[in-house]
Amino acid sequence: MVSISFIILGSLITTVLAQQQCVPYETTFNYSSYPTVWAVPSSNDTFNTAEFKQLNSSLDWSKVPKIAPRKLVNGSLDLANYSTSDPDCWWSYNLCTKPKATGLQADVSICPEPGTWGLTYDDGPNCSHTVFYDFLKGNNQKATMFFVGSNVANWPNEAQRALADGHHICVHTWSHQYMTTLTNEQALAELYYTKKIIKYVMGVTPLCWRPPFGDVDDRIRGIAQLLNLTTILWNLDTNDWNMVPAGTEQPAQIDALFQSFVDMGQNGTFATSGAIVLEHELNNGTMSKAVEWYPKIKSAYKYVVPIASCLNITHPYAETNITYPSFAEYINVPNNSSSVAKVPSPTNSNTQTDSPKPTTKSASVTIASYNSLISMMIAILTAQLFGSFF
Ligand SMILES: *[C@@H]1O[C@H](CO)[C@@H](O)[C@H](O)[C@H]1NC(C)=O
Ligand SMILES: *[C@@H]1O[C@H](CO)[C@@H](O)[C@H](O)[C@H]1NC(C)=O
Ligand SMILES: *[C@@H]1O[C@H](CO)[C@@H](O)[C@H](O)[C@H]1NC(C)=O
Ligand SMILES: *[C@@H]1O[C@H](CO)[C@@H](O)[C@H](O)[C@H]1NC(C)=O
Ligand SMILES: *[C@@H]1O[C@H](CO)[C@@H](O)[C@H](O)[C@H]1NC(C)=O
Ligand SMILES: *[C@@H]1O[C@H](CO)[C@@H](O)[C@H](O)[C@H]1NC(C)=O
Ligand SMILES: *[C@@H]1O[C@H](CO)[C@@H](O)[C@H](O)[C@H]1NC(C)=O
Ligand SMILES: *[C@@H]1O[C@H](CO)[C@@H](O)[C@H](O)[C@H]1NC(C)=O
Ligand SMILES: *[C@@H]1O[C@H](CO)[C@@H](O)[C@H](O)[C@H]1NC(C)=O
Ligand SMILES: *[C@@H]1O[C@H](CO)[C@@H](O)[C@H](O)[C@H]1NC(C)=O
Ligand SMILES: *[C@@H]1O[C@H](CO)[C@@H](O)[C@H](O)[C@H]1NC(C)=O
Ligand SMILES: *[C@@H]1O[C@H](CO)[C@@H](O)[C@H](O)[C@H]1NC(C)=O
Repeated sequence: MVSISFIILGSLITTVLAQQQCVPYETTFNYSSYPTVWAVPSSNDTFNTAEFKQLNSSLDWSKVPKIAPRKLVNGSLDLANYSTSDPDCWWSYNLCTKPKATGLQADVSICPEPGTWGLTYDDGPNCSHTVFYDFLKGNNQKATMFFVGSNVANWPNEAQRALADGHHICVHTWSHQYMTTLTNEQALAELYYTKKIIKYVMGVTPLCWRPPFGDVDDRIRGIAQLLNLTTILWNLDTNDWNMVPAGTEQPAQIDALFQSFVDMGQNGTFATSGAIVLEHELNNGTMSKAVEWYPKIKSAYKYVVPIASCLNITHPYAETNITYPSFAEYINVPNNSSSVAKVPSPTNSNTQTDSPKPTTKSASVTIASYNSLISMMIAILTAQLFGSFF
């Protein structure tokens, strides 16, 4: 009887802890000048503000190709009506990464360094990523994190931790839409407000972005370029985003893909240049897969590095006083992570002056819940002991 009580209590504690790590903060960040969280920016929030109008009118729109927004049919991109000559270098149509329009930079989709795995995670930050980030830190491993603006608003402490841990931060839009379906203003706002909130919460201005679903064409590239954002795609997709329960593929299918990527690391596929790999910090399943495969990837590839290091970008933010390791510096990195990326920690960066630290509600909730758990434990044990002894 008593051991059954402990099992019940054990699972209760696990449940409470699992819920608590995602209890929202009571934050003192003021998001009144941002779009609604998880909504496409619109006239309901930012479009009619002086700030957005000023931004919009300050940009040279002649550099953005005039291409009509794409259509969604039943939630998917309508590819059927598009010209087979791919006039707009639409990645969703045929994985095009070299713009057809003049004046646009090509996308980055490979890590130039041979035998190298460019490590990237999309869709953070998330309240549930603590174990995963602890794992990366324990391995002294940095990654490129493509952050969703709405998630930064919801989870500012987790966002700050990513920077403090030395990860390379890029934009993954405000509300994770198919960007080619948006109007120019919507696409501009999706990128601009994500840059802005990363600066506000974390103190840095990113210079790179990844389109959700890879959905980019020359119009969207042009808008990103107006905001000094380099488009980063991938050449290996783990499909972790499509794993059950969020998607339709079984874990075994994802394992098979990871295994084939491990094989590629050993069979010469990446002998002359490396990979940029799409992974996600979407949910426990995707993060668990990342942790599970990491040792095999480390032994199959010569190097596992963030994209800034793949590209020797030592100043990955507009704030040029922040320095990240070059490729050579990264691969010679000593195990002591503090000597690696000289990024500001959340407490000593310029966030301090213009952005208050969020206060968290979770601590008090945790104590209250522990107290009630302990009372519950005593009550159940008492009942059980009396029940079995008398
Ligand atoms: C939030 O910022 C806006 C200006 O962007 C200001 O008008 C408002 O008073 C601020 N709210 C709080 C609670 O400080
Ligand atoms: C503005 O908000 C209303 C109410 O939520 C919604 O019905 C409408 O579609 C929104 N307008 C835009 C342009 O997003
Ligand atoms: C942005 O600028 C374009 C071109 O100058 C203009 O047509 C459009 O109405 C502007 N949008 C907003 C929301 O101010
Ligand atoms: C959209 O979905 C509906 C219901 O599943 C289906 O009847 C329709 O044919 C679909 N339309 C297109 C264009 O695929
Ligand atoms: C695509 O083309 C078909 C056939 O011409 C047409 O019926 C359909 O409406 C078009 N779809 C869109 C989204 O324009
Ligand atoms: C882009 O970078 C250039 C050169 O550093 C700078 O002058 C410009 O203000 C930046 N544009 C934006 C929108 O940040
Ligand atoms: C390397 O492994 C991959 C994945 O198994 C396979 O598709 C590819 O053909 C292999 N290449 C060589 C040169 O063996
Ligand atoms: C955050 O993580 C939780 C738990 O893993 C997951 O259920 C949720 O979908 C994630 N939220 C977002 C916005 O990614
Ligand atoms: C997360 O996934 C791992 C591996 O599948 C599993 O052992 C663990 O119980 C899961 N944790 C939660 C909170 O679901
Ligand atoms: C990075 O720098 C090293 C050392 O200067 C050089 O060998 C390598 O080719 C560079 N890689 C890239 C992608 O620029
Ligand atoms: C870095 O430069 C920014 C201005 O771009 C400044 O506010 C900040 O204090 C500087 N940080 C350090 C650590 O020097
Ligand atoms: C880092 O630690 C690992 C295992 O703890 C060790 O094998 C390796 O030699 C260390 N590397 C350096 C550069 O100290």
